[in-house]
Amino acid sequence: MRSRNALSLGVLFTLLLAGGGGYFIGRLASPPTLRSVAEARGVYIGVSTGSGYFEDPRYTELLKREFDLITTENALKFEPVHPERERYDFADADAIVAFAEAHHLRVRGHTLVWQNQLPTWLTAGTWTRQELMDILKEHIYTVVGRYRGRIYAWDVVNEGMGDDARLFENFWYQGIGPDYIDLAFQWAHEADPNALLFFNEHNSEGLNAKSEAVYAYLQELLRRGVPVDGVGLEMHYGVGWGPKADALAYNIRRLGELGLQVHLTEVDFRIKLPGEGQPADAAALAKQAERYRGAMQACLSAPNCTAFVLWGLTDAHSWIPYFYPDWGAALIFDEDYAPKPAYHALLEALQGSER
Ligand code: XIL
Repeated sequence: MRSRNALSLGVLFTLLLAGGGGYFIGRLASPPTLRSVAEARGVYIGVSTGSGYFEDPRYTELLKREFDLITTENALKFEPVHPERERYDFADADAIVAFAEAHHLRVRGHTLVWQNQLPTWLTAGTWTRQELMDILKEHIYTVVGRYRGRIYAWDVVNEGMGDDARLFENFWYQGIGPDYIDLAFQWAHEADPNALLFFNEHNSEGLNAKSEAVYAYLQELLRRGVPVDGVGLEMHYGVGWGPKADALAYNIRRLGELGLQVHLTEVDFRIKLPGEGQPADAAALAKQAERYRGAMQACLSAPNCTAFVLWGLTDAHSWIPYFYPDWGAALIFDEDYAPKPAYHALLEALQGSER
């Protein structure tokens, strides 16, 4: 009996060794990807996307190889998803979520309540406070409810703080009052109690009056028992400006002290192009790589920073040239899908010392 046990243990051990060896050789044979190294660091690495891109196999192969999270770039904004009062259009979002599930990617839902990309039926209407609350509640229940258990994190409120460090008096604020934010989080929580709920903000990633205001406001929401789990820091900057990495790290950590997660939600560092159709030069690309490295190191320095998301896969898919003429080359793969210095900087940062 004893010897048979010993024998089977020996066989098991040999098998385990062989399996482990095979696994190890497999790891050596395939070069590291952002996805493989991020996994080991406990941070999701993501990219914003739309289902229109999925027809391009170069796109999907690169996405699947390098990333383990996708954010819906436009599919779940109010106007595209709820174009008429009585009609929703989930085609784009359904395709994104199906793609994610087929390839084991997490999904961040972006975004439930925002000033922009609102349909005219909504903005041109005259509504009482109660009517607007009913509309928003129904919208949140319908959209969040549809993807319950499938979208793991939501940007519930987008850009709710003004650059003057006071709540932005947007369409929802004007129609409902400042508590539209409390209500939106509450409704999102009711629609999917397990989803992580984020307040997503820009121009408040480092230390300034606005990030102080966001911090104080989040503290206040938590004190009131509003179900908020995290803050999204967008990180749209030019290579020449924006928060220093140490200020970003400090801000992430202090939000962590409130018990909040932080996701860097829309990272891109744009470059002023030398001329029409001319590529960015090597010096600008090197500078850009350092900005990406700094942002990733800041995230890795804080245990509550759990996702790092780029706003687009390659420079061919970036919103920057449309919104900032003469600017571009903001992402980590170029228009031919080739990795830029910024890609290598992110990879190196992720391969750096343990956090
Ligand atoms: C942008 C998209 O990338 C564009 O395709 C769209 O036309 C406009 O919106 N902050 C946000 C994002 O929170 O939703 C924005 O996305 C970029 C700025």
